[in-house]
Amino acid sequence: MTTILDGKALALTLRGKIKEEVEALRKAGHRAPHLAAILVGEDGASKTYVNSKEKDCEYVGFESIVHKLSADTSEEDLLNLIETINNDKNIDGLIVQLPVPKHIDATKIIESIDPEIDVDGFHTLNVGKLTINEDTYISATPFGVVMMLEEYGIETIGKHCVVIGRSNIVGRPMSILMSQGGRDATVTVCHRYTKDIGAFTRMADIVIVAVGIPDFLTADMVKEGATIIDIGITRVDADNKRGYLLKGDVDYEAVKEKSGAITPVPGGVGPMTRYGLLFNTLKSFKKKHNIV
Ligand code: GUN
Repeated sequence: MTTILDGKALALTLRGKIKEEVEALRKAGHRAPHLAAILVGEDGASKTYVNSKEKDCEYVGFESIVHKLSADTSEEDLLNLIETINNDKNIDGLIVQLPVPKHIDATKIIESIDPEIDVDGFHTLNVGKLTINEDTYISATPFGVVMMLEEYGIETIGKHCVVIGRSNIVGRPMSILMSQGGRDATVTVCHRYTKDIGAFTRMADIVIVAVGIPDFLTADMVKEGATIIDIGITRVDADNKRGYLLKGDVDYEAVKEKSGAITPVPGGVGPMTRYGLLFNTLKSFKKKHNIV
């Protein structure tokens, strides 16, 4: 029997715990944790993601503010806004939704965020800490995946984990986390120049795919009983009310028959990613207020 790794249900439970914690903090006289988000431009998917983050904050009792800036906002104006937020002691988390328009240097923007409130965990200081296994903000998607593996009791020690994709915000931190002490997987990272990715995935006990190509991982690429984590979420045109469907990187129906455990899309990694951001924001708040 294949286990469906139900990120939606798990995130609901975990979000409930954050909500309870916030209620207790408020009763003890604290202000609510506060997340600020900056959205530059009109990208449809980014707008949806930021709306979801806002809704999540409301659900758990966080304050949130979204700064919606026009696509032609200058880099300087954006940097000024970040500086203002960095200096606001009542803000615990700041995220700049990516991608930003082409005339803005994303790296410069990320580096301008105070690492103490960089709840996306994208700043080089936080990435560096992650790399040497120091306490930090782990970026939301890799964090959500390791939480899900842990909560479902998926064994990782000594297992062979293949990560497909090496982006700064997903594949790379994912591969680092899986090899770290405590998880102790043997990790292979595959990418666009890897020859015959299937030769690697067929040996894997755990496959984590983050390439953004619908149905990339097919059943013939998977070992019987493997755990399959699908991070892909691509909008494909569809004749429905929204005008699109969300597709993962895994040929779900076929791979499900062969795998031991698998995440669906939607309802798998996505909700866990949203939980990761709430977790990091609460972590920042607690750090600021010396709450253990
Ligand atoms: N764009 C896609 N994923 C993310 C994310 O996790 N955080 C931010 N800030 N932008 C994104």
